[in-house]
Amino acid sequence: MQPATERPVLFFTASARPEGNTLRLARAAATGLPGEVPCDWIDLDRIDLPPFRDLRPAAPPEPEAALGQCLSAIRAARAVVLAAPIYWYGFPAPLHLLLSHWSGWLDTAALGFLASLKDKPLALITARADPDPSVPETAEAIIRRSALWLGMQWHGALHGIGDAPGDVESTPAFGQAADFLRPLAQGIS
Ligand SMILES: Cc1cc2nc3c(=O)[nH]c(=O)nc-3n(C[C@H](O)[C@H](O)[C@H](O)COP(=O)(O)O)c2cc1C
Repeated sequence: MQPATERPVLFFTASARPEGNTLRLARAAATGLPGEVPCDWIDLDRIDLPPFRDLRPAAPPEPEAALGQCLSAIRAARAVVLAAPIYWYGFPAPLHLLLSHWSGWLDTAALGFLASLKDKPLALITARADPDPSVPETAEAIIRRSALWLGMQWHGALHGIGDAPGDVESTPAFGQAADFLRPLAQGIS
């Protein structure tokens, strides 16, 4: 295991298009981290996550390939940031798929997944078209409650507004982005 100061902040992005608003907002947030904090990026829309199968009471097979990459990256991370557009008041399918696989990993005690999440900060970054502030509430509640249930540290959410790629760059959330993640670099020894 790397020393805590060398561990990356892990960004899972989940937009179905490249260079979208969520990615731009997440990148702006990453600029608030000091240079010595590495960032790891995994685009869930571009990696081949297998379908989730609920095999209970049996345990799922050892995660391999893209799934294994996600598990290793989470274990190695000092913090996890989920960066996803709002789709139908919720999240794009690849992010849901990842979270379903987390359930399977929790059923495999030997993976030590739950222990690896303990007290790890979890943050959410979203973008949406509708400026109504209640639109991302359900999505935020899903991740906040999941963080609490998993024993992670809920870091909070940053919600951007925009529809065409780049719209978010002229909104207040974009200006606040660098401050949003900065606390992740503090208090780690
Ligand atoms: C399938 C789909 C569903 C969407 N659902 C919503 C929605 O429920 N509320 C909303 O405000 N915007 C919705 N949008 C708009 C996107 O959230 C918006 O375009 C956002 O900027 C996309 O982020 P991205 O550029 O990172 O892909 C939807 C877009 C798509 C493609």
